[in-house]
Amino acid sequence: ARKPKIAPSILSADFAALGEEIARVERQGADWIHVDPMDGHFVPNLTIGPNVVAAIRPHVRTVVDVHLMIAPADPYLEAFAKAGSDILTVHAEAGPHLDRSLQAVRDLGCKAGVALNITTPLSVIEYCLDKIDLILVMTINPGFGGQKFTHSVVEKVAEARRLIGERPIWLEVDGGVTPETAPLCTNAGADVLVAGSAVFNGGNEEAYGANIAALKAS
Ligand code: DX5
Ligand code: ZN
Repeated sequence: ARKPKIAPSILSADFAALGEEIARVERQGADWIHVDPMDGHFVPNLTIGPNVVAAIRPHVRTVVDVHLMIAPADPYLEAFAKAGSDILTVHAEAGPHLDRSLQAVRDLGCKAGVALNITTPLSVIEYCLDKIDLILVMTINPGFGGQKFTHSVVEKVAEARRLIGERPIWLEVDGGVTPETAPLCTNAGADVLVAGSAVFNGGNEEAYGANIAALKAS
């Protein structure tokens, strides 16, 4: 297994202190900061908009990794790009023209990611791999932190690794990642692990450090 990057999801952070929470996890070894905008339509929850991304941007020293759970995503890509996203990931299920969305993200100067829900096959990205910088394989039904990892998706992670081959594409896993499930993902070829509850539980910097170390060691 390769050494994975850890991308704490700020969905499980203290929303009243996001700047400090980001500084804490970055001091403790976070590689990217994962941000989860939700629209109450594509997923049954409301979270973060572009204004919040713009507010946290100056506090992030690493990478702002934005996972859009918005349908349609296209009308909001420019706002999230201008807010300072480094990576903008759209769901393959969020619109009929994934190729157009990916092209739009790159035209806005961001790295382009595509997220796949549990039941979405990898074949939907077969003909646009040259427009993709990141594949996000969901191991939960998106909408909430703290859900249980879906073991049947590990095989899709392995298939995604084979599909990527030598291409410069990150393979990210999101949902239910813990020190127990992280090695299943990295052994299958994931190189970026999103973790919300498994990083922010404990509620203080010392706990975050131990949690990130446990994920990296697993
Ligand atoms: C859920 C989000 C995830 C979530 C992960 O829809 O995409 O990034 O915050 O939370 P955990 O790690 O607690 O499953
Ligand atoms: Zn996410």
